[in-house]
Amino acid sequence: MSATGNSIPSRNLKAGGSFQGHIKVPGDKSISHRSLMFGAISEGTTTIEGLLPAADPISTAVSLRAMGVKVSPIETGQIVTVEGVGLDGLQEPKQILDCGNSGTTMRLMLGLLAGRERRHFVLDGDTSLRHRPMRRVGQPLSLMGADVRGRDHGNMAPLAVQGRTLHGTVVRTPVASAQVKSAILLAALTANDVTTVIEPSQSRDHSERMLRAFGADLHLQVGEEMSRHISVHPGTILRGQNVVVPGDISSAAFWLVAGALAPGSDLTIENVGLNPTRTGILDILDQMGAKIDVLNLRNVTGEPMGDLHVQAGSLQPFDFGGEIMPRLVDEVPILSVAACFCDGESHIRGAAELRVKETDRLAVMTRQLRAMGANIEEREDGMTIYGGRPLSGALLDSESDHRVAMSLAVAAALANGESTLNRSGITAISYPTFWDDFDRLHC
Ligand code: S3P
Repeated sequence: MSATGNSIPSRNLKAGGSFQGHIKVPGDKSISHRSLMFGAISEGTTTIEGLLPAADPISTAVSLRAMGVKVSPIETGQIVTVEGVGLDGLQEPKQILDCGNSGTTMRLMLGLLAGRERRHFVLDGDTSLRHRPMRRVGQPLSLMGADVRGRDHGNMAPLAVQGRTLHGTVVRTPVASAQVKSAILLAALTANDVTTVIEPSQSRDHSERMLRAFGADLHLQVGEEMSRHISVHPGTILRGQNVVVPGDISSAAFWLVAGALAPGSDLTIENVGLNPTRTGILDILDQMGAKIDVLNLRNVTGEPMGDLHVQAGSLQPFDFGGEIMPRLVDEVPILSVAACFCDGESHIRGAAELRVKETDRLAVMTRQLRAMGANIEEREDGMTIYGGRPLSGALLDSESDHRVAMSLAVAAALANGESTLNRSGITAISYPTFWDDFDRLHC
């Protein structure tokens, strides 16, 4: 698919109505990438049930295949198998590794490849990815002896990695980013000594959980001011696992907000991953007074999962800052939509990271919601949203950002009058069946 989302150039969206029924959202994107990569460097076969069949994990799979890993076709409803090549079995690829639109692919790959001695790799991506900061990964990896080069003094793709022997050391990550942390953990697996990653506050911990399940020797400790210390003792052989991927809470978020706000809605979202490092959206919706029940809470291959039942009601504005940001970083666009439909001022603070996502999400959401008549002040690290005035249907543009497209779809349904959304096909990056689900649930 085209990463610019032009496969469905524009879509008319009708306003009003409610959201009704049952839905299973596609597999968690973060867990999907990790299961492919960890499976690739294990001994034996990994099976993955519920892998997200979307453009981003496909970028990871295509890159792994280019390095000699057998990954079965990624198709909806099919179990994916990965034939592991072992900790040091990745081959030097003959071509550039195309990471498409996927920051997770590029950043985790840097860590995966930095220690592959005598092998050379070039990583590239689409226009959006070429503008995203990569020094945050290359710089800590260089403390371990990695050789990562790129445009803008190593900050931007295309990037070249010359595999080298890596040294175990203590690495402090500059931001609470699971992508940066995971890259270092991957590099640590083949370093010549223990590596400890210290992150300023906890980011999503899927890598830690899954690496342990695959057999890595990994230890956790809470340090000063709740910083997190994760130590990896290298050399342990990873063993292929049977992974079951829960539904992505970041995709469920669109239905949670639509169901909580569209009058008369009643939705059940099944099999949603409820890892506490990802559930900030539930905490904020709870503070807003949303009627959401968690049902059938259970554990699936080391990750908590449950069903979420949401019913419409009136919501209060919110105020949140940097402390909760790592737990809801991808849900800020849809929360900015929710704020438009609550009477009063909502504040998003400590969200500067949003400016270096697939787009500058603070600027794009402000621009697009203003086109519908929203009253928003954009700030350097957040937004103030003066909610409660009705939004009107408008000509909208995803600006080639999947989460913006899905957020605007919900905004359009809650507004008065029809909207048109340009570049709507970009949803295929993380949620290929989004528009089918939208049409089915929106009555
Ligand atoms: C991800 C981490 C987050 C998130 C991204 C996926 C991951 O990024 O925004 O969609 O899978 O590790 P950061 O690590 O930049 O916060």
